[in-house]
Amino acid sequence: AIAFFVAKGLAGRRVLITAGPTFEPIDPVRGITNLSSGKMGFAIARACRQAGADVALVAGPTMLPTPREVRRVNVQTARQMADAVHAEMAAAAADVFIAVAAVADWRVANASASKLKKTEGGAPPALEFVQNPDILAGVAARPDAPYCVGFAAESEDLERNGQEKRRRKGVPLLVANIGHATFGRDDNELLLIDAEGMRRLERAPKDRLAAELVVELARRVGPAR
Ligand code: CTP
Ligand code: CA
Repeated sequence: AIAFFVAKGLAGRRVLITAGPTFEPIDPVRGITNLSSGKMGFAIARACRQAGADVALVAGPTMLPTPREVRRVNVQTARQMADAVHAEMAAAAADVFIAVAAVADWRVANASASKLKKTEGGAPPALEFVQNPDILAGVAARPDAPYCVGFAAESEDLERNGQEKRRRKGVPLLVANIGHATFGRDDNELLLIDAEGMRRLERAPKDRLAAELVVELARRVGPAR
């Protein structure tokens, strides 16, 4: 692996990160998830730690190893992720919150406590959905809100949709994935969107992009004083 030099631009800062997919149960053996690998969020956690931050990583189901000196909390569902994030903030104020997780927008409202069984010629189960809490918007709305960063995978009109999503979430910085098929890949191409405008980070390995993002964060937040 290649290591990238990151100056200690976040020394003493507490950074909270969500990463990976969430998993929403249908019954005890089945559920709904997505193709997020967690690689980008884990790379950002590693880069923040290398920049001197105290890092807590709330992770959905992924096989990725925990970055060195990063505290990791494993969760499955969006609601568990929200609870874990607010518990982290209650334990110690965060300076930065980076929502990289691909959170399920909906969960199954009528999940079954026992395994669903098929019957000969029977109808398939009728799943009902209910919307999950928006973790990022929830953190951004707190009176003690840290500097909040969102991630977005937009399929079209990246600039306009990204800027609109940033305002809707009430966050100063939104990072948009450029193009499709970033899930699971080792590289990516990003667009940083803030109130001033946009800046493109060229296609590069995710650990390199994470280091570049940390430089941007250090410029905005800086080390603790
Ligand atoms: N996010 C979150 N909680 C949710 C949904 C999204 O914290 N329940 C965060 C993601 O981690 C990401 C950002 O919000 O940082 C944008 O997620 P995205 O799915 O692009 O936006 P949504 O608001 O869910 O809108 P849509 O999926 O309809 O485009
Ligand atoms: Ca969504």
